[in-house]
Amino acid sequence: MNKEINAITLKEDATIKEAMESIDKSGMGFVLIINKDKKILGMASDGDIRKALLYREKFESLIKNIMVKEPITALKETPAIELLNIMLEKSIRAIPIVDINKTLIDVVLLSELKSIPLSNPDISNKEVEIISQVLGTPFLSIGPKVEEFEEKIADYIGVKHAIAVNSGTSGLHLCVRGLDIKDGDEIITAPFSFIASANCALFERANPVFVDIDKDNLCINADKIEEKITKKTKAILPVHIFGHPCEMDKIMEIAKHYNLAVIEDACEALGTEYKNKKAGSFGDAGVFAFYPNKQITTGEGGMIVTNNGKIADLCRSMRNQGRNEDDKHSLEHIRLGYNYRMSELSAALGVAQMNRVDEILEKRQRIANFYNKRLEKIDGIKIPYIGPNINMSWFVYVIKLDDKRFSKKGRDQIIEKLNAKGINCRNYFSPIHLESFYIEMFGYKKGDFPITECVSDSTIALPFYNNLTEEEIDYICKNLESIINFFKISS
Ligand SMILES: Cc1ncc(COP(=O)(O)O)c(C=O)c1O
Repeated sequence: MNKEINAITLKEDATIKEAMESIDKSGMGFVLIINKDKKILGMASDGDIRKALLYREKFESLIKNIMVKEPITALKETPAIELLNIMLEKSIRAIPIVDINKTLIDVVLLSELKSIPLSNPDISNKEVEIISQVLGTPFLSIGPKVEEFEEKIADYIGVKHAIAVNSGTSGLHLCVRGLDIKDGDEIITAPFSFIASANCALFERANPVFVDIDKDNLCINADKIEEKITKKTKAILPVHIFGHPCEMDKIMEIAKHYNLAVIEDACEALGTEYKNKKAGSFGDAGVFAFYPNKQITTGEGGMIVTNNGKIADLCRSMRNQGRNEDDKHSLEHIRLGYNYRMSELSAALGVAQMNRVDEILEKRQRIANFYNKRLEKIDGIKIPYIGPNINMSWFVYVIKLDDKRFSKKGRDQIIEKLNAKGINCRNYFSPIHLESFYIEMFGYKKGDFPITECVSDSTIALPFYNNLTEEEIDYICKNLESIINFFKISS
């Protein structure tokens, strides 16, 4: 038995006073009472002791007279997720772990058990090794790992150039500048996305013009784009939302017809394919992001991909303070630029992650399959839609509730109840046009993009990451099902 357990255990001949002293010292709020063979006899919390003293017992009475006999225990092999379930269900803060003879071997506290996070990066020893190697070199920025990472991504996506930057947002911004989009120009995009998809236009005083999304694939509705094209339109910025590609055939045709540039926001779609071609390789430029919840991570980071040498050169220069990139160490600044550089440490992490990209995407597909199988038959839930001719690269797993049955308030209550069960989940995304500063700038109001608003009010992103276990998915789905059924009965 370890030292910490010694601090919260007492023999059966201990008094209430001794139990109080033990609780005071350990700060745990309870003691376990064991016999000479370390078999667990009972448990007493500070609340149990207070009640006993209030009504009859003396300080000198034996603790075993007031303890809760045969408290809930669990065997050593019990998975953490089950322990969490027991503790939440029985409203207990700790659970003694015993062997088959009921001998106490450990105590697990509720506070020790991690809840299931929404996302969790998958970092192997190989990543740790490669980063340590970089730390031993003089190159922590502007070095060989950035180049290696760029080559790997260009190869993987099937484009001529890849330019690493310090975030997806900076990548989008450089594409807007690289395409010479300026004050008063318009970029057509979807209001159902991460806010950077639209903000990148505002950075250059251009205006994002929204087109509502398709109710199934949740990407920009390609059939509605033409209605929004004006003389000021310079580009279309389709977002491959949650890893599902937009209808790129239609979008490229419209762009060609109206002579518009296409910037693919592929920040959530590394590895996604539309008609066997990788997302990011259709437009004039594409951008990926590597925040820790993405398919692969560099901590923070992004990558611009393009077949256009001029855009590539401009972006390379602008990410590095507008320097003359012919001479990397030159201090000559030939245009306005930024510090959007990716560090060598981030790039090294990216290289190691790219070495495992197929394995990573397969793991994510497996997790999505588990979820689909568990959830597809639950009344009131729609599992993610996958269109034809598509290879999905899963970014998040987002379910849609039946919006006829569940209001936004109901959806939020379901999220709250899941959170209370240790399951981190959240709504995904809030409509961009209803963010307060968009309302202020453009006068948007509720009802302007009804599909985006409806989807935003009725979706839930469930925990999703490479190493989510089948048991955890089972726990999540069981709880989701019973919460949904409870709503069915009570509504
Ligand atoms: C669709 C989309 N666009 C752009 C971004 C911006 O990427 P970053 O957070 O790396 O700036 C994200 C990131 O979450 C995203 O999901």
